[in-house]
Amino acid sequence: MNKTLINRIKTSFHEVFKTEPLIIFSPGRINIIGEHTDYNDGYVFPAAIDKGIVVAIGNSNSNNSRAFAVDKDEIVKFSLSDLKPSAEGNWENYVFGVIAELQNRSKTICNFNIAFGGDIPGGAGMSSSAALENGVVFGLNELFDLRLKKEDMVLISQKAEHNYVGVKCGIMDQYASMFGIKNNALLLDCRTVKSKPYEINFNDHELILINTNVKHSLSDSAYNDRRSVCESVAERLKVKALRDATEYDLGTIKDELTPENYLKALFVIQENNRVVKASKAIEAGNLKTLGALMYASHYGLKNQYKVSCEELDYLVEIARLNKYVLGARMMGGGFGGCTINLIAKTETESFKDFALQLYKNRFNKDCSIYSVSLSNGTGIIEQCQHYS
Ligand code: GLA
Repeated sequence: MNKTLINRIKTSFHEVFKTEPLIIFSPGRINIIGEHTDYNDGYVFPAAIDKGIVVAIGNSNSNNSRAFAVDKDEIVKFSLSDLKPSAEGNWENYVFGVIAELQNRSKTICNFNIAFGGDIPGGAGMSSSAALENGVVFGLNELFDLRLKKEDMVLISQKAEHNYVGVKCGIMDQYASMFGIKNNALLLDCRTVKSKPYEINFNDHELILINTNVKHSLSDSAYNDRRSVCESVAERLKVKALRDATEYDLGTIKDELTPENYLKALFVIQENNRVVKASKAIEAGNLKTLGALMYASHYGLKNQYKVSCEELDYLVEIARLNKYVLGARMMGGGFGGCTINLIAKTETESFKDFALQLYKNRFNKDCSIYSVSLSNGTGIIEQCQHYS
């Protein structure tokens, strides 16, 4: 865990609020495979990572509450009795959204102070937002003894994102961040919201992330558009969600759909099948198959679902040139962020140099490369005196 980050958040909290906080770590996530399947009630294969958000939280004696975004050096004061979404794109919506959802569920909270910061680059597709929402709801649950289960907390975080941030996300990010298990990825069924852990040890291979360091601005609206296309195709097929449809079923209504929407629905059905195949490949230790599924996933995200971008495509293209990269694909919602690459450990260093150089030559900007370890989900890392 990032001790410097923890100390930074703790010290910042002390300096501003002058009390002892409760400290929570809430991780970001990677996703091995299964993109845009979560809001179609399908399967995903994410894992919590050792990068994330640290939240410090404590009671407040004043008649308002304050939230401190340490990395931005911004403090927002607010009243619990008069909450409404702040301007689009503002970080406080993640905090407000969680509070509003707790209030919708008639959970009583009193004034509090919160400070947070993280080591996940925003827009990297590693779910810093879900990590923050989870950190806030987890902290409030502890502070005010709300007796929420983790299962409730992920739904509260997801609703915060829908109603205050305006992204109609699925459950993958919040779930992976909350329920992560060290050294494991979770095969999550997004209909039952239950998962099966898979210990991830690829022996002489590893997963690395390459961040394009871009986030294209249309990503949120494009995300919501994709979701409504999927819902309308499911409705036409008279099924609850695309998870319930086969390629054959989709073929029966092909003439009623635009070619674009047909391809989008086809992607979801195929991607969902790939997740199941990937879990079997991992069980069998068949990394070549896993890698091929990752490349196929990227092909679909780029050509069928159309959520990739030039920078991501380029990184996948150069991965393909190296036979030691068994698979690569864009990760997360798309339009920027990271690729995830399955690579032979002996080749990682030289591939990193190669990718950094080529990316720079091509786009005249830097990509960033990360190795991550799989970690436990949202939890307390330090009790405040009040609790100990
Ligand atoms: C974002 C959303 C998730 C999921 C992915 C795409 O990360 O928050 O719910 O839909 O995109 O797989």
